[in-house]
Amino acid sequence: MKPKLLALALMVLVPGLFLALGQMNPVDGKGQKSTQIKDNGIGPIKSVTVGKTLDKKMVAEGQVIFYSKCSKCHALNSTKAAPPLAGVTKMLSPAFIMNYLLNTTQMQQKDQYVKQLMQYYQSFPKMPPQNLSEGQARAILEFLRSTAK
Ligand code: HEC
Repeated sequence: MKPKLLALALMVLVPGLFLALGQMNPVDGKGQKSTQIKDNGIGPIKSVTVGKTLDKKMVAEGQVIFYSKCSKCHALNSTKAAPPLAGVTKMLSPAFIMNYLLNTTQMQQKDQYVKQLMQYYQSFPKMPPQNLSEGQARAILEFLRSTAK
């Protein structure tokens, strides 16, 4: 192929590839999640009752856990070694989030959305199991709910 033609072909193909990748990407260009997961994921949690208003005590407990266990990898509004978590409760169902926190390894092996997310964050180590009690996971969920606008 002549160099000019090759350059032309690349100009068409390369953006096309990025577009295709972008569509598989669970996070859109603004770092906002473009996926919505309504199922429960895989794990011990079959249903979660969340109140119309926030439980302030749980928010406070969840916040402490977030800043001691999660914030080394996760920020709320920007991408660090892991996805930003503010607003994640609008994208993932409460049971899905709790199962992901309580049953991380199995979710990474079997859940389609988590697999896709890991693919996107593959240059970083995957999320390790967090060793949380159900109560702690519930408190984190409440804290994450408090970060959603
Ligand atoms: C060592 C780094 C690390 C730590 C610590 C960590 N995570 Fe993660 N987390 C990740 C990575 C990387 C992903 C992307 C997918 C994966 O690897 O499973 C992720 C994904 C997530 C997701 C899904 C986000 C989305 O956009 O769908 C949630 C929710 C989450 N983590 C919550 C937490 C919470 C809550 C804690 C603390 C209890 C925590 N993580 C601790 C690295 C971490």
